[in-house]
Amino acid sequence: MTTYPAKVNIVEVGPRDGLQSMEKSIATEDKITYLNLLSQCGFSEIEVTSFVSPKWIPQLADAKEVSAKMDRLNGITYTALVPNLKGLDDALSAQYSSVAVFTAASESFSKNNTNCSIDESMGRFHQMTPVWEEHSLRVRGYISTVWHCPYEGPIKTGSVIDVIAKILDLGIQNISLGDTIGKATADEVRFTLETILNRWHPKHFALHMHDTFGFAKENIQAAMEFEINTFDSSTGGIGGCPYAEDASGNIATENVVSLCNSIGIETGINEEKLEETSTFIKSIVKKESLAHAKD
Ligand code: HMG
Ligand code: MG
Repeated sequence: MTTYPAKVNIVEVGPRDGLQSMEKSIATEDKITYLNLLSQCGFSEIEVTSFVSPKWIPQLADAKEVSAKMDRLNGITYTALVPNLKGLDDALSAQYSSVAVFTAASESFSKNNTNCSIDESMGRFHQMTPVWEEHSLRVRGYISTVWHCPYEGPIKTGSVIDVIAKILDLGIQNISLGDTIGKATADEVRFTLETILNRWHPKHFALHMHDTFGFAKENIQAAMEFEINTFDSSTGGIGGCPYAEDASGNIATENVVSLCNSIGIETGINEEKLEETSTFIKSIVKKESLAHAKD
């Protein structure tokens, strides 16, 4: 009989991953409303925004203002995505005690996403290490293109293993494995996890599945067979990745919750609040895309 975890943690990434991919930025006030609604839903972690170059991601250029004006409730980890020391300093000034850094299993994706090789991204993490140690920050590490890359195609599990080993060596204990273009199948997910978990404990890993081809739900269920219990998702399923044309949004949080409900797994999410939040953000996204269509 398949055993699943009794409880799953959902990391809500819509405000960062979802909103970074909109053609035009939504209003700062709407982001704050969205975040405040999300804080009522029962998430243990919300990825709020990123402190990256506004030339690269203008959609999140108001990260400082959003971070200053949103509500922060006790018991929720609010995380900011940072690519380098400058981003980390900005996140600290904006009162974050949790940050996420990101690299990839594919050299071409790394170059396109962050203008550096995988090893150079490790160099950036290395530069950040004394800062997050000094401030006792909680750090999460993303690996993009774990299964497929929009430029290189299928990725060898060996490349993923190399990157995981380097990240863990830096003392980063939480790693989110990204199916950036949503192309992985459940068998591919099982194969990769089996290889990874031969070496490391499942507690280190989360899955970050984009839902381009509708595979994400099945993949998450497959990962639960391996005791993985942390999944990233985006309320309303908004989003994508600006440096992976084929990427659609993250799996909708609603779908992760309904999957968990269907197999008796607790999520701690208040479904009424989730629906309210989803309706709100989808209406804003729709309004913005209609306005953009008229431009
Ligand atoms: P670069 O151009 O190579 O960096 O960018 P640079 O160090 O040469 O700096 C160039 C300019 O950027 C300078 O300004 C810096 O000050 C500025 P200028 O002198 O030209 O005016 N700069 C910054 N500004 C604000 N915040 C910063 C920062 N750093 C430098 N932190 C960099 C390198 C990484 C900064 C750039 O490539 C960048 O910001 N990229 C954005 C990448 C990104 O946000 N991608 C999407 C998120 S990752 C993702 O979605 C995948 C994930 O969801 C998992 C998955 O789905 O697979 C996590
Ligand atoms: Mg993503």
